[in-house]
Amino acid sequence: MELKLVASNNTNLLPKTEAPTPVIDIARGVSHDLCNVLCWMNGYLQELREYCGPEGLPLIKEIVQASSEIEQLTKQLSQVGRPQLDDPKKSINMGELLLQQAEFVGNLYPDITINLNIDTVSTVVGNEDKMKRVMQNLLLNACDAIQQNGTIELGAKKIDGSTVHCWISDDGYGMSKTIQDRAFDRYFTTKGNKGTGIGLANVKQIVEEHDGNVALTSVVDKGTTFDLYLPFKNANVCRTA
Ligand SMILES: Nc1ncnc2c1ncn2[C@@H]1O[C@H](COP(=O)(O)OP(=O)(O)OP(=O)(O)O)[C@@H](O)[C@H]1O
Ligand SMILES: [Mg+2]
Repeated sequence: MELKLVASNNTNLLPKTEAPTPVIDIARGVSHDLCNVLCWMNGYLQELREYCGPEGLPLIKEIVQASSEIEQLTKQLSQVGRPQLDDPKKSINMGELLLQQAEFVGNLYPDITINLNIDTVSTVVGNEDKMKRVMQNLLLNACDAIQQNGTIELGAKKIDGSTVHCWISDDGYGMSKTIQDRAFDRYFTTKGNKGTGIGLANVKQIVEEHDGNVALTSVVDKGTTFDLYLPFKNANVCRTA
């Protein structure tokens, strides 16, 4: 690839793709500082291993996993304004992914009951980190909607031979028709300062990047269901994809 050099305002020579803007500066600055904080945190986590008993180790493992996900996100932030690389793709078992997320919610919200309806052959091909974020966003929204006690159902099934259907249902406060119409709009939130309105817009974008689609049905005071339809890929085919 040929990189043309252009003079920026402060006379530094930068590749054309690197034109600095305030947004890029902020993104890379935040990424840099987050990396430093993560480095500290990981250091303390290593130390913590020596103090906690065997029952604490699985929890530390979860935190290390979460920290590595933040590291990936931070790396993405540092790439803002640079040419995008293709996403790493692999075989993802959506049932297992939902199971992991269910455990996370179970630990965080013991008053929420989680029912699982999972089929073991629900594999798709894609970016696992992104797919995790889809499920995390939907689950956190479901937990917000439930507020205290309630039930979430998570499902993953292969349907019609070529599609994986995943769903997340909650019996929370639901959405009016007006809110449903705007729910996927970027920056639309009903949560005031507690929400950014980015969650569902990202869900839609990621699902569509994976050649899928997402639909919602909701009834006020009864609950909400998000249905995701993704192309099924056989696990053997995925390894060579
Ligand atoms: N399960 C749900 N039950 C009821 N309302 C929901 C549910 N999921 C989303 N919503 C509505 O859709 C809006 C947009 O959701 P979205 O996840 O995009 O943003 P958010 O949750 O408000 O903020 P954040 O960006 O922090 O996720 C929410 O503010 C809420 O009004
Ligand atoms: Mg949200």
